[in-house]
Order: sequence, then structure tokens, then C-alpha cells
Amino acid sequence: MTTTLTIDPTNTAQAEAWDGREGGYWATHADRFDAALAGYQPAFQAAAGIEADHRVLDVGCGTGLTTRAAARAAPAGTALGIDLSSRMIDVARARAAADGLANASFARADAQVHPFATGGFDAVVSRTGAMFFGRPDAAFANLARALRPGGRLTLLTWQAAAVNEWFVTFVRDLAGQPPPPSPAGQPGPFSLSDPDHVHTLLEGAGFVDVALDGVAEPEVYGRDADEAHAFVLGLLGWLLEGLTPDEADRRSETLRATLRAHAGPDGVVLGSAAWLVTARRAP
Ligand SMILES: C[S@@+](CC[C@H](N)C(=O)[O-])C[C@H]1O[C@@H](n2cnc3c(N)ncnc32)[C@H](O)[C@@H]1O
Repeated sequence: MTTTLTIDPTNTAQAEAWDGREGGYWATHADRFDAALAGYQPAFQAAAGIEADHRVLDVGCGTGLTTRAAARAAPAGTALGIDLSSRMIDVARARAAADGLANASFARADAQVHPFATGGFDAVVSRTGAMFFGRPDAAFANLARALRPGGRLTLLTWQAAAVNEWFVTFVRDLAGQPPPPSPAGQPGPFSLSDPDHVHTLLEGAGFVDVALDGVAEPEVYGRDADEAHAFVLGLLGWLLEGLTPDEADRRSETLRATLRAHAGPDGVVLGSAAWLVTARRAP
């Protein structure tokens, strides 16, 4: 793809975060993030229904595990991963090349406004990459336009924060109180957690046969409590900013004790719950 990068002004803050520190952390810890989501991968891949000659678009592909899976499922087709993070795309490119996947390619692009070829894809997939749009109505309309009529959309999105043990636990320990309800209409991990909202959004964008299947999987955050502690602090340590050093230490050790309590033979495991969202572009 040789088009100029355009980022919609409503996505500026997300682009700064994902092309900055946050994306850097995901790029450095790609294997840990992939391991955390591994339980969802078989159902996600099955739901995507990718066929051998499909042209697949992976939205918010990150370090590209799902793009590589799509490329393998479509040996006579193509898989294009797009993301806001240069560093995650670098990792995605290197891993696809190392796996010899010549039909996988990657580009830095804003899915909300990128001028995809109309009807240029048979399938659009996104594993926790479609909850961050400043204007989700515009973004999903753009993705519907990129799909051929009848083409399939498959998303993995988080259910409400309250049923995601990992989130409730980490925020409770580090922020010292349960997470507040996610602000409605704001981009973030839980922005597609309300099924009615997802139906309205996708049907308004030109999709039909919208369905949400609830799925729940354990997530592994590290092989032991110390590894998980370092990983979670790297991700959410900003919740300790502004505290006195003593209070920050106290909360950090509270988190370590919680992670010890969740450690077992499979590592440090916390519960999670997601929606497997499927839809088709209106024929
Ligand atoms: C939670 S990460 C998930 C990454 C990857 N799909 C995975 O499963 O590991 C969300 C990703 O969405 C990307 N993203 C957020 N907004 C985007 C946008 N408007 N266009 C393209 N990618 C976006 C971020 O850069 C980030 O890599």
C-alpha cells in the first residue's frame, strides 16, 4: 500500500499512545500478550471463516499473530494487517517474514479513514483492535465499504469491565478502588461491551446478521507472580503516578500478593470474558 498516512483528528490521542509508549510496550512483550489471548484464538479463527483464496484485512493487527493466522488460512489469497503503531508493525513484518508468509503484508494506517479499495476484501477481522475509534460509526462504515457485499466481519471485543477479573483486580489493587464504569461513547477496551450498542453501530454502518457470542477464557499473565507483577506494572504502573513512594509501594505489594494467590501450575491466571462478534456486509 503506497498511500499517504492520514489519521483522523478524533484518533490523534490513540495514535500518540499506540505509536508511542503503549505500542512500544506491546511490541516488546508480544509473546506475553499473545499468550494471554491464546485461549480465544481457536474460536476467533473458526468464526472468521477464512477460505483459501480470501483477501483478509486485519484491523489493529498489532504484532500480527492474527494476520499470520489469516495468511496461513488463505494460501491463495492475501492478509493485510494495519495498525497505528510503527513498532508493533515492525514486529509483525519480521515475524511474518520469518514464517515465510509472502502473502502477508502490513501498513501503518487509521482504519477509520484509510481509503481501502471498495469491496477489496472478503473478510475483515480484528482481535481486540476495534474498540479505540474516535468515531466508531465512521470507522465501521469505512470497513463495511472495504468488504465485498456479503463479506464477513469478525471481532473479538471485551465484555463489560465488571466481568473481566483481570481488569477489576489490577485496577482495584493499583488504584485502591474498583474501576469506575467505562464512560459511554469513549474509545477504550470496553467501548464495544454493550451488545445493544454493537448492534446499533454495526447495523447503522451497513452490516447484517450481527451476532454476539459470549466467550470466557483464563488469561495467563506470567509464569510466576514476580514475572506477572513486572508485566502488569509495566502496563498499568501509571495508576500509581502521583502517590507517595510509600503508598505506591504498598499498592504494588498488594498486587504482588494477589498475583501470588492466582499462581498455579499453568502460571498466573485471571479470568476474562469477551464477545465474539460476527456480521456480514449487506449484500
Ligand atoms: C489491544 S491492541 C490489539 C492488537 C492485536 N490485534 C492483538 O490481538 O494482539 C489494539 C490495537 O489496535 C490498534 N488501533 C487502535 N486504533 C486504531 C485505528 N484507528 N486504526 C488502526 N489500528 C488501530 C492499536 O495500535 C493496537 O495495536
